[in-house]
Amino acid sequence: MKKILVTGGAGYIGSHTVVALHAEGFQPVIVDDFSNSSESVLGGLRAIVGTDVPVHRIDCNDKAAFRQVFEREGDIAGVIHFAAFKAVGESVQKPLAYFRNNVGSLLVLLELMQEFKVWNLVFSSSCTVYGVPDQLPVTEETPTKPASSPYGRTKQMGEDILRDVDQAPGNQFKTVLLRYFNPIGAHPSGLIGELPLGVPQNLVPYITQTAAGIREKLTINGDTYDTPDGTNVRDYLYVGDLAQAHVVAIKRLLTLTWPVVETYNVGTGRGNSVLEVVKAFEKATGQALNYSIGPPRSGDVPAIYADVTRSAEQLGFRTSTSLEDALASAWRWQQNLSNE
Ligand code: UD1
Repeated sequence: MKKILVTGGAGYIGSHTVVALHAEGFQPVIVDDFSNSSESVLGGLRAIVGTDVPVHRIDCNDKAAFRQVFEREGDIAGVIHFAAFKAVGESVQKPLAYFRNNVGSLLVLLELMQEFKVWNLVFSSSCTVYGVPDQLPVTEETPTKPASSPYGRTKQMGEDILRDVDQAPGNQFKTVLLRYFNPIGAHPSGLIGELPLGVPQNLVPYITQTAAGIREKLTINGDTYDTPDGTNVRDYLYVGDLAQAHVVAIKRLLTLTWPVVETYNVGTGRGNSVLEVVKAFEKATGQALNYSIGPPRSGDVPAIYADVTRSAEQLGFRTSTSLEDALASAWRWQQNLSNE
């Protein structure tokens, strides 16, 4: 079984990717400091995959501790690097923490991969690198824009670092940059899912917490954008589909025999407005949602969704789960959480 290190493997996207890797015959090994994830995820993972997933509780910035992981694990076929902070607003408050955690840990990881001659890397990037795009849908060739937050800048810097490493003489790294659009939903078992700490910033956890009665109502951030119904448009993809994209990326890296950096959008190729998501949630779950329209949120991009031609043609990857099914899975997960 090929061993894949999954940094941030106890997190939202990481945990679903651990399941997908296991299902396809890989041995995932989690590296996580649990600063933004819960130990309870491990029980959920064990129940889904039927065995304990190895875990190293370390901060990826702690090079000595991280080196021991490489030493102890031995033969590592590749790394999927999720570990990062991801709250846009918080990154404005704590820029140093974001650069230290997101950029610093990537440097440590790359140095250790080089030391141990592990050359296959999948990096978590984001559609945030496109800023407010001049054209829709965005292809991988759509020019990136200066980031509007430290969080966005850490993702752009991560991409830049990986491209510079690729250009260095004698480079052996093979890297896939996945630019995620908006992942939503949870594993069909309801055993793992998104665990927002405090008040959710993202749309779907806010919706499910409102339906569960934890929040009084959803405030839609503005309805006067230049979009069909005036609310923001995003490309919402099911987290299980996104997890599968990582398995496909790892498999591709294992077949490539030359150093390369490849960049892929991972989305559905469709844009949905906030109001459409609300309506789809109500239809999928039978829950009426209390919501009202509020002012626009600072920094929000009016509309963005992916052109997915490249990931379809080169990776053979397409999402397969509908918006309604993804929202129904998020609701099942919320109900499980509320019943605990
Ligand atoms: C943004 C980034 C994404 C990043 C993510 C990290 C863009 C295009 N996307 O996602 O790359 O990884 O932050 O958190 O920059 N909304 C409401 N009410 C709410 C919550 C959200 O109306 O209570 C709206 C937002 O205004 C937005 C949509 O729902 O229009 C989705 O918001 P959210 O889930 O926060 O994701 P993005 O901001 O798209």
